[in-house]
Amino acid sequence: MDGLKIVRSSEKYAVSYCETFDEVAKEGKFLSISGGYPVEDIIRFIRSCRECGYPQFLLIEPGGRAVGWCDIVRRCDEPDDVGFLGVGIAREYRGIGWGSRLMTATIHDAKKRGFNEIRLEVRASNFNAIRTYTRLGFVRIAYRTDGVVTDGVAEDVWLMSLDSREIRTDGFDRREFFGRFPKTGFRFKPER
Ligand SMILES: CC(C)(COP(=O)(O)OP(=O)(O)OC[C@H]1O[C@@H](n2cnc3c(N)ncnc32)[C@H](O)[C@@H]1OP(=O)(O)O)[C@@H](O)C(=O)NCCC(=O)NCCS
Repeated sequence: MDGLKIVRSSEKYAVSYCETFDEVAKEGKFLSISGGYPVEDIIRFIRSCRECGYPQFLLIEPGGRAVGWCDIVRRCDEPDDVGFLGVGIAREYRGIGWGSRLMTATIHDAKKRGFNEIRLEVRASNFNAIRTYTRLGFVRIAYRTDGVVTDGVAEDVWLMSLDSREIRTDGFDRREFFGRFPKTGFRFKPER
């Protein structure tokens, strides 16, 4: 589909970003929550990504509606150069390459900002997403049984990483990390 563009996120897209997030969340099969956030929270998130230097890009229709998002943020307890990726595309634009392009742009920006490793969590049943991530170079490194519960139904979750070295060049040892933080629920299970 022509005419779509990938842009750095800004508050002017907050309403449609909020609606698209809500629609994808309500599909109930993909995200860790089954509904969106109020638009004020989305505006706060856009601002905090900008202020913290976290990459955040949106997929925009010719009319200016945000129909996809991708962001990479830091989480506490993780090394500073590890970023967590979140992504979603409106149903009508899936499967034609936009998700890959959006993630590639966001990951490229993250590398320029000093992120050496990108991680994400994905439901074990989300085969399309896992295939797309794998094509981009992500590998599965850890597994959490019943990692997400939607409408009372529990499902397993994979942790995937773009840079899957067991021991990174800075000495960070994943096996030791998952042993030390059992509360994450993840068990080290590298893809071989
Ligand atoms: C997961 C997700 C972000 C992937 O984005 P996407 O735009 O659907 O993915 P892409 O189109 O880039 O790639 C998927 C397929 O389209 C194909 N494709 C890529 N470029 C293409 C193009 N230019 N023309 C036609 N097909 C294309 C790919 O080959 C791939 O198919 P394959 O795996 O059979 O080879 C998207 O499907 C989505 O938002 N899903 C729902 C929410 C979700 O799961 N979020 C992630 C939670 S962890």
